[in-house]
Amino acid sequence: MARQTVTFDQLLVHSQDLWANQWMLLTSGDFLDGSFNCMTIAWGSLGNMWNRPFAQVVVRPNQFAYDFIERYETFTLCAFPSEYRGSLEMIGSVSGSSRSKITEAGLTPVASSVVAAPAYSEAELVLECQKIYWDDINPAHFLDSGLNAHYPNQDYHRIYYGEVIAIVHK
Ligand SMILES: Cc1cc2nc3c(=O)[nH]c(=O)nc-3n(C[C@H](O)[C@H](O)[C@H](O)COP(=O)(O)O)c2cc1C
Repeated sequence: MARQTVTFDQLLVHSQDLWANQWMLLTSGDFLDGSFNCMTIAWGSLGNMWNRPFAQVVVRPNQFAYDFIERYETFTLCAFPSEYRGSLEMIGSVSGSSRSKITEAGLTPVASSVVAAPAYSEAELVLECQKIYWDDINPAHFLDSGLNAHYPNQDYHRIYYGEVIAIVHK
């Protein structure tokens, strides 16, 4: 099926289902340099901030992916057909520091349409993002103490806002 580019206004997704159930791959780095890493993510959001369409993602600082999203200006968010569920489970449980998990998952990195970070030929939806803001989760600001259960090791996520500058889907 041919790939199409759509604007954020035209994007039709069931946002909660996309994040919580389908999951996505967050990939940072540079396709042309061959330097990139990906991780599975289920926490995040899509929205409008400073009158810009954005995707918000969270990354724990002890992850290999953290080094990449810190170092590079762009990232992609890719959603896949259901047959890649096992690939996303593996990529979300194995570190790219020790395994060639993209190859093992049977995914094919390809150049994105505008950003340096790669997409995948198997993806059904690609959000190409330019980092515009970061912040760190501050446990002093938790208004529900139950949130602490997500941080037994105090490895509070860093939050990134990426302006969505291109969307490609099948
Ligand atoms: C379904 C699922 C969702 C995940 N969501 C996130 C997330 O939103 N943020 C995060 O920091 N880690 C998340 N993880 C964990 C990372 O994907 C996992 O630690 C990964 O192995 C990190 O890879 P890396 O060591 O190559 O960076 C998730 C894992 C799974 C399986």
